[in-house]
Amino acid sequence: MPDARERVEELRSEAEAAIAAAADPRSLEELRVRYLGRRAELTSILRGIGELPPGERGAVGSAANEARRALEELLGRRRSELEGAELERELEADAVDVTLPGSPVVPSGSRNLLIRMLREIEDVFVGLGYRVMEGPEVELDYYNFTALNHPPGHPARMAQDTFYVDPESLDPELLLAPTPAEPGGAASGPPLPPGPEDVVLRTHTSPMQVRAMEAESPPILIVVPGRCYRSDPFDATHSPIFHQVEGLAVAEGITLADLKGTLDEFARAIFGPERRTRFRPGFFPFTEPSVEVDVSCFRCGGSGELPDGSRDPLCKGIGWIEILGSGMVDPNVFGFVRARGYDPERLQGFAFGMGIERIAMLKHGVPDLRKFFDNDVRVLEQFR
Ligand code: PHE
Repeated sequence: MPDARERVEELRSEAEAAIAAAADPRSLEELRVRYLGRRAELTSILRGIGELPPGERGAVGSAANEARRALEELLGRRRSELEGAELERELEADAVDVTLPGSPVVPSGSRNLLIRMLREIEDVFVGLGYRVMEGPEVELDYYNFTALNHPPGHPARMAQDTFYVDPESLDPELLLAPTPAEPGGAASGPPLPPGPEDVVLRTHTSPMQVRAMEAESPPILIVVPGRCYRSDPFDATHSPIFHQVEGLAVAEGITLADLKGTLDEFARAIFGPERRTRFRPGFFPFTEPSVEVDVSCFRCGGSGELPDGSRDPLCKGIGWIEILGSGMVDPNVFGFVRARGYDPERLQGFAFGMGIERIAMLKHGVPDLRKFFDNDVRVLEQFR
């Protein structure tokens, strides 16, 4: 019988070589059973130590224990090596290129044309140095009407035009109404909680003119996109909910010519480089003078006639298409924000407001305003 100690060393180096050569966790487990398991030779040597001659016990015992410890450690290290490599391989095999299209290709969504139109318009004005501001859709009568120079009893306040909101349904702290001393005068006295007819869904984005001037001293150059509400029918050209973009520019020495230049630039950016604009007299309580703005027709080029000599149906043969309302800020409006440095004797400004539905319908030939709201994917998909 060979010397037990030599046999231990033999087993140890045999096992070490086998462990180093093991190719996967499963063969490693087989080696563990073979060399360290209950019926392994090393185990039985350890178990049989007591039967050895007393002089050999110490040397064989410590060699066998040392071999066992070394092999266990080696197994552990090799196992984590192999498991790491296996994980690496799995990850590699599973790798997904997230930039590839799906299979089958999953159609991606697209922005509603109205929102795209709104962003496009914002971009034009941001390019001209304007900032984008937003404001509340649930608005005080004060900002929607009073401070915009609609005297009490003005027909635009009437219930058939406007959705009134029960102030009891709101957090009263959020909507304290300034109390103007007289029409056109600055607010005086403490703000009051709104009464039964003091809260509306805004009927235009113009209330932000006053809010913006309250928040910031002049000069000011802003556009305000947003939703508006009127108690209107829902048909091909009306909707009780619609979108506007407001513009406001206030500084010393601003004139109607600046308004014209700005809107020319806008019309060219949105409707094409050949476009011109024309001003017609109009009326809004908060601008003086007020103008309705037309753009030269981008279908017929302004002649009112199509190439075959027939009347252009888009501009109805007129050669011009109405796109927005605007004017010079009425000094009475500055009167409401005089305390913020808007001195009507010193400052001038212009404002404009356009309906996004109208601009989008004109630009993209959308025949019916309801198309924007009924979420027909066949319509949505045309504008990506
Ligand atoms: N708020 C007006 C409307 O809704 C448009 C407008 C805005 C007119 C700014 C003049 C100045 O019709």
